[in-house]
Amino acid sequence: MTGRRAALGLGLAAGAASGAAAQGRPTLREAARGRGLVFGTAVQSQMLATDAGLRALAQREAELWVPAWEAKWGPVQPEEGRFEFAPLRALLQLAQPSGQRLRGHCLVWHEANPPWLAPALAEGPARARRVLEEHFRVVLGTTAPAMRDWDVVNEFIANPPGSDNPSASPGDLRDTPWLRALGPGYVELALRTARQLDRTLRLTLNDYGVEADTPPAAEKRARLLRQVRGLLDRGAPLDAIGIQAHLQMREPFRPEPFITFCQELRSMGLAVLVTELDIREPDVLAPNVPTRDQAVADYIGRFVSAALEGGVRTILTWGLADRESWLVSTPSVARADGATTRGLPFDDALRPKPFRDALLDAFARV
Ligand code: G3I
Repeated sequence: MTGRRAALGLGLAAGAASGAAAQGRPTLREAARGRGLVFGTAVQSQMLATDAGLRALAQREAELWVPAWEAKWGPVQPEEGRFEFAPLRALLQLAQPSGQRLRGHCLVWHEANPPWLAPALAEGPARARRVLEEHFRVVLGTTAPAMRDWDVVNEFIANPPGSDNPSASPGDLRDTPWLRALGPGYVELALRTARQLDRTLRLTLNDYGVEADTPPAAEKRARLLRQVRGLLDRGAPLDAIGIQAHLQMREPFRPEPFITFCQELRSMGLAVLVTELDIREPDVLAPNVPTRDQAVADYIGRFVSAALEGGVRTILTWGLADRESWLVSTPSVARADGATTRGLPFDDALRPKPFRDALLDAFARV
């Protein structure tokens, strides 16, 4: 074990947990791996530490874990120059017995930042660049043995008119403190800084709102493609695009435009990942849970099948069981009627739902 790995206890045990196959079907981890796919999920250290059921589920079902919080700027550098890796180390140690890998999320974002950051960025481009470079240097240097894949910039494309939360700014790029401090070149700067610090990392740009068959989603797909082509034309180091896939059943989905979008990205030599899959149910719920769950599973099955046909080979959900979902805990997206959104593969009793079967069925068709 290398010194750095020993320092953070970043060893990655070989082998996967023996998967208790729920209801005679393989685990999602086994089914994906058997078809050359990777299935994973977002995890939170405090939940895994205190909820043995969730911990066992994540260890059994997911090959890849992504920290929902622990690797973000706020928890990692709460004050300038003070770095906190204990929560991330806790996740890495929970991953060891069952051989999970972790992917990093996220190095540059306009949310989950500590109070000191925006004022520092506002001091000007030289200061902003130093702040970014120091954060990358420490974070990538500390996590290097265990985390080989990062969302370098998260949610960098502006939301078009007609979106849920349209961006006021003109142009393709979301108006963020990073854009205001460093100009439109900040995305390329972030990618080049990461590559310069660690030449073997997989560098990903991650965004949402590009999945549905709606005019705003079509426009956001066009904006993302335009920005990605520009980065690659300038020789920016970029390996993958993450599609968050926070789906909404009130939005129509048609496979063809989404498959074409994924294939267009693949044709540029990029891997395409589904990074945060979950789904919000319709505003008006079906009369009973089995009908609700089947409607969710039908939508998920169509989307994941299209993603796989488009060349996606990594599917990550944003949590496994409803009770851990941001769709339940975040007021802005929780249901107005107080019902618990059933937007993940397992229910609150950690039993598999038709969502889980839809994933298994889609994996089996690859
Ligand atoms: O755990 C700490 C607790 O120790 C602390 O006392 C408390 C003080 O605020 O914060 C707690 O952390 C919370 C964290 O989730 C873990 O539960 C943060 O407040 C809360 O802001 C954070 O929310 C996360 C959110 O991103 C903002 O970072 C959600 O869990 C997470 O699901 C959500 O994930 C985002 C993706 O990163 C990007 N795509 C959208 C997705 C959903 O919003």
